[in-house]
Amino acid sequence: MQKNLEPCYYGDYLQLGKLLDAQHPVAPRYGQQAHDEMLFIIVHQAYELWFKQILHELRDVHATMAQPHINERELGTVIARLERIRSIQTVLVQQLTVLETMTPLDFLDFRDYLIPASGFQSIQFKEIEIRLGLRANNRINFDQQSFYSRLNEPDRNFLIGLEAQQNLHDHLDAWLARIPFISTAGFDFWQAYRQAVDRMLADEADIVRQHPNLLPHDRDFQLRELEKTKVSFDCLLDANRFDELKAQGKFNLSQRALLAAVFINLYRDEPILHLPFRLLTALVELDEGFTTWRYRHVMMVQRMIGAKIGTGGSSGSDYLRQTTENNRFFRDLSLLSTFLLPRSALPQLPESLRAALDFHANRG
Ligand code: HEM
Repeated sequence: MQKNLEPCYYGDYLQLGKLLDAQHPVAPRYGQQAHDEMLFIIVHQAYELWFKQILHELRDVHATMAQPHINERELGTVIARLERIRSIQTVLVQQLTVLETMTPLDFLDFRDYLIPASGFQSIQFKEIEIRLGLRANNRINFDQQSFYSRLNEPDRNFLIGLEAQQNLHDHLDAWLARIPFISTAGFDFWQAYRQAVDRMLADEADIVRQHPNLLPHDRDFQLRELEKTKVSFDCLLDANRFDELKAQGKFNLSQRALLAAVFINLYRDEPILHLPFRLLTALVELDEGFTTWRYRHVMMVQRMIGAKIGTGGSSGSDYLRQTTENNRFFRDLSLLSTFLLPRSALPQLPESLRAALDFHANRG
């Protein structure tokens, strides 16, 4: 590493001249005093800085995950980047409490001057969504039709161009689908899994049937629910039924990728699967982090503007509440537990497969 040639000065390095000269409330231009507008601007700017950092991490994650082969060291770095984003998310959620020290009446002192600007136009937030895997046709109706119409042309073209590229969900799918060690010669893991599932469901049905305290109505209900669980497993394992459900939007990952994710979760104790399991966990947590932020944001919006429409023209808290449930990035991973079996019920792996899974721990 080279020595620095010129002395570094704190304010120059951080470009504080520019940064601290970027807060210009609009209310005074209209002869209105609105003390809290400064807070409103600074909180939003702080968010945009954190979005910038999230994108810095995400672009690096993309570059690694887009490769046809990813070694373990690189996987470790991807996980570290995702965990950093997760830490930032906790700050993002927490930061709303600062803005909530502004009362709805204080907000009304300047809100109307902001129309039609809105969080819709946070290009960095939309870039994060698109890079993670949210496509226009997966957005709720209002968002599909309207959010692009709220943007200027360069921003719109930038985001449309981004949507045409592969996103993190695509890279994850390709990486999972490449995982090689599920079938080895002479052993069909998924057939053994199917038998283990059938045994588990049959045992559970026996427990329900023989339970002395269940009323007939409750017993029938529970048996019907078990039948539904069986259908979920059938769909996971049957390529044609899986593809039908995928076409209806019930699954987002390919069948091969989802099976690999199930396998990683079932055998995560095996040394070679530790990192893949941590990667899947990090993605689930990231998804939860954004959902938590959306939820906290909608609670704050409700408190600030009640049932009014947003400055960007959406139905306001109603629209935002729908995005909370709808705009998930890795829903399939969040629902994986549906397909897990207790460790005691897992199929015994043949020695050759166990040795392959143990390879890294015992090497050298
Ligand atoms: C007084 C505080 C706030 C209010 C009343 C508010 C209100 C709203 C409303 C109503 C929308 C829906 C679009 C529209 O019709 O305008 C929205 C979207 C959004 N807001 Fe806020 N917001 C506030 C603070 C924040 C803060 C601090 C951020 C941080 C960056 C933020 C980021 C966003 C983003 C990214 C969207 C787009 C969400 C999406 O389309 O899924 N908002 N906001």
